[in-house]
Amino acid sequence: MDYCSVLDMAKKWDISERRIRSLLIEERIKGAKKIGKSWVIPANATKPGDLRNTYQFDEVKSVEPSDIDFRSYTKRFPNEKGYFGKYGGAYLPKILEKPFQEIYDAYLTVCKSSDFIADLRKIRKYYQGRPTPVYYCRRLSESLGKVQIYLKREDLNTTGSHKPNHTMGEGLLAKYLGKKKLIAETGAGSHGTAVATAAAYYGLECDIYMGVVDMKKQAPNVARMRILGARVIPVDRGAGTLKEAVDAAFEAYSKEYKTSLYCIGSAVGPHPFPLMIRDFQSIIGTEAREQFLEMTGELPDVVCACVGGGSNSIGMFTPFLNDPVRIVGVEPLGKGKEAGQNAASMSFGKEGIMHGFNSIMLQDKDGNPGAVYSVASGLDYPAVGPEHAFLHDLGRVEYDSVTDEEAIDAFFKLCKLEGIIPALESAHAVAYAIRLAKKMHHGSILVNLSGRGDKDIDYVIEHYGEKYGIK
Ligand SMILES: Cc1ncc(COP(=O)(O)O)c(C=O)c1O
Repeated sequence: MDYCSVLDMAKKWDISERRIRSLLIEERIKGAKKIGKSWVIPANATKPGDLRNTYQFDEVKSVEPSDIDFRSYTKRFPNEKGYFGKYGGAYLPKILEKPFQEIYDAYLTVCKSSDFIADLRKIRKYYQGRPTPVYYCRRLSESLGKVQIYLKREDLNTTGSHKPNHTMGEGLLAKYLGKKKLIAETGAGSHGTAVATAAAYYGLECDIYMGVVDMKKQAPNVARMRILGARVIPVDRGAGTLKEAVDAAFEAYSKEYKTSLYCIGSAVGPHPFPLMIRDFQSIIGTEAREQFLEMTGELPDVVCACVGGGSNSIGMFTPFLNDPVRIVGVEPLGKGKEAGQNAASMSFGKEGIMHGFNSIMLQDKDGNPGAVYSVASGLDYPAVGPEHAFLHDLGRVEYDSVTDEEAIDAFFKLCKLEGIIPALESAHAVAYAIRLAKKMHHGSILVNLSGRGDKDIDYVIEHYGEKYGIK
């Protein structure tokens, strides 16, 4: 058989050498092999289809092939009923249908107004401290070989995570709607802290619902929320974690919707929240794309982010959807594959409705939300946002998972090699990048570092200090 080089094939197929290398890493060129350090490709190999345009439409029945064009994707998805293909929607009790419609209508009008946009821009720049930088991890990259790892530093956003990107937007919307209170749930406390911050900034009351297990694990964030003036309401039903907190917050909002706005903590929930959260969070990817291009003159080969409900990841991914960039969402594999030992919804879940939206979720044998576990409280959620389920079906975004152990290892690596203490949630994305970098021989990975790890320090020292020689 005749073989040719990467350069020859790039010319023949009229695509860049970089794109060919990505295809080789993804093992999408049949018969290609590595001899020493160079790849050789069968001269008669067929050019792999562009995944962005060749979807399995039988899996996304409500979407016409002509709908999928990532240049106009965000304008087309979700549709006016909140559907990304078959996922999303708004499955609400009758009493909440009108309030959610009101939020959607307000969002569509207010958020496109130049006043709202100008206010939000000012808040992001002068209050949140945006743009957050993209940082090249020299020592971490060198320790792994030749792949360059970069971080989008959302840990440097005010309050130490990406959450204010949407809570400052939600708070501003509440102010425009004349609401008096913000109601929210929280898992790791990052979202709760960001809502409490927004409430203080806009002069609103604030009620945060939090599972008792998470309250214990994330005590520093509970203190921060209280100091910021929020009421933290313990939720002791069920497993006492994020899912139960969402249930409780939802119930409270049903009684107070006239005077309050529900500030959902991720790209989940009934329409219009997945849309609003994506739009507010897309500032991450928009900045990161521009910054990366400016730093390196190229786009990254891989972009990755951890996925709980999916807010930081959807914000990071959306601006890269139309680019020749591999995109990976990283879920928590916790202690293993057995039910109840992880929260890897995309790997082990199936289609179902929970918390007012249709998506992929972990379920028990009766179809109820399954038990979940992760060392990172913010990833401890039995579903993913509907847009993630859609992008997964389309084949545009890949989803993989990382265990607690890998995440903890990455946590310590980033601390020791770069002087950055990541949130345990973000450590999952770093762990994935480390794993991938060992397999790739060159190229770059841009990781969204969704938050800082101050909230996790006590827990990490108590449970892993001895193993890592700190106690
Ligand atoms: C720092 C951090 N990163 C990630 C997440 C996961 O949420 P999401 O998937 O919505 O970004 C959380 C949730 O609390 C968090 O605190």
